[in-house]
Amino acid sequence: LVRPVILSGGAGTRLWPISRLAFPKQLLPIAADQTMLQATVSRVVGAQFSAPIIVADEEHRFFVKDQLEGLGVAPAAILLEPEGRNTAAAIGLAAAWVRSQAHDDDLLLVLPSDHVIRDVASFWAGVSAAVPAAMTGGLVTFGIRPDRPHTGYGYVEAGQVSEHEGVQHVRRFVEKPSVEAAEAYLASGKFYWNSGMFLFRGRSILDELSEHEPRVWKAVDDASEGFQRDGDFVRPLSSPFCSSPSTSIDFAVMERTANSFVVPVDFGWSDVGSWDSLWEISSKDGNGNVVHGTVLPLDSRDCLVRSEHGKLVVTIGLRRIGVVATRDAILVTDLDRSQNVKEAVDILRERD
Ligand code: GDD
Ligand code: MG
Repeated sequence: LVRPVILSGGAGTRLWPISRLAFPKQLLPIAADQTMLQATVSRVVGAQFSAPIIVADEEHRFFVKDQLEGLGVAPAAILLEPEGRNTAAAIGLAAAWVRSQAHDDDLLLVLPSDHVIRDVASFWAGVSAAVPAAMTGGLVTFGIRPDRPHTGYGYVEAGQVSEHEGVQHVRRFVEKPSVEAAEAYLASGKFYWNSGMFLFRGRSILDELSEHEPRVWKAVDDASEGFQRDGDFVRPLSSPFCSSPSTSIDFAVMERTANSFVVPVDFGWSDVGSWDSLWEISSKDGNGNVVHGTVLPLDSRDCLVRSEHGKLVVTIGLRRIGVVATRDAILVTDLDRSQNVKEAVDILRERD
């Protein structure tokens, strides 16, 4: 059995002003009727999976619990971080909890909760292909064929074919490269995007953390001395956990390990990280506009126009512009500059 570990933290800053610290993107129905967390959980309900572990911020615990109840899914645990310390600590915490249950041989399938996957059967097949390599202690990534030099992803250079069918050794992993590097990787034809999903043994990732990012390992190891259960919620010791540096698993381990593999996959994967990627995957009207709420786009093409709370939004003569209106904020952006929303939010936070 494969044990899903679903990461439901972070702020989803690039989807501001819909995604907020108090209510981040994964808890919202941004790309479909279900929330992204619910869609992620639904994908791993089946005979080959055991009950999921959710790793979330303490502050969001009741939203997470309600959304699981809405699906009728009973989690193995909802692990609560007193404060987010990025994905290395979140994944390390899940592995340490599994170890505390004497299950550290379990295969953990780490899943971000900000993705859309269209072909679930093919996703399951990809996971099955990854199992043998993960059983030998490897860290397995799932590689997406890139079609543009996106700088918000990790790039995985595939090396030699492994002894496991459909699995290649990783020669190099580069997290969020410069645009020049990304262009070169794309042109070489040897690189995949890291989908952000991983399969490995709980024990393997703890060993790798202790080797490559010992401060994160120490923090989760100490925090795991005092797990407290409270219904579905499980809390680690707070101050050891908070002493972890804030770094992603990609920088902490994947760029450094010599023991990783890639399974090339093609299951209609999209990261819903920003307004342009949401535009990309959404169904469009006859003019290429993605509309939501009370909006009237006139002579506008390839726009994303979204209104919450019944505010009427009219656009005239726009091309490839995103307009997002909420109760207290309005964003107007060139869709090709959607990545810069993060910088705007950083400035706003400094002002507060
Ligand atoms: N529990 C918890 N705690 N979850 C977190 C935290 C945290 O502190 N920080 C982030 N997450 C969750 C997010 O909700 C998301 O589902 C997932 O972990 C990945 O974090 P992102 O912040 O969205 O990462 P990214 O998109 O910049 O990069 C990752 O995903 C890309 C593909 O979408 C990397 O793995 C890249 O290499 C990869 O290409
Ligand atoms: Mg992401």
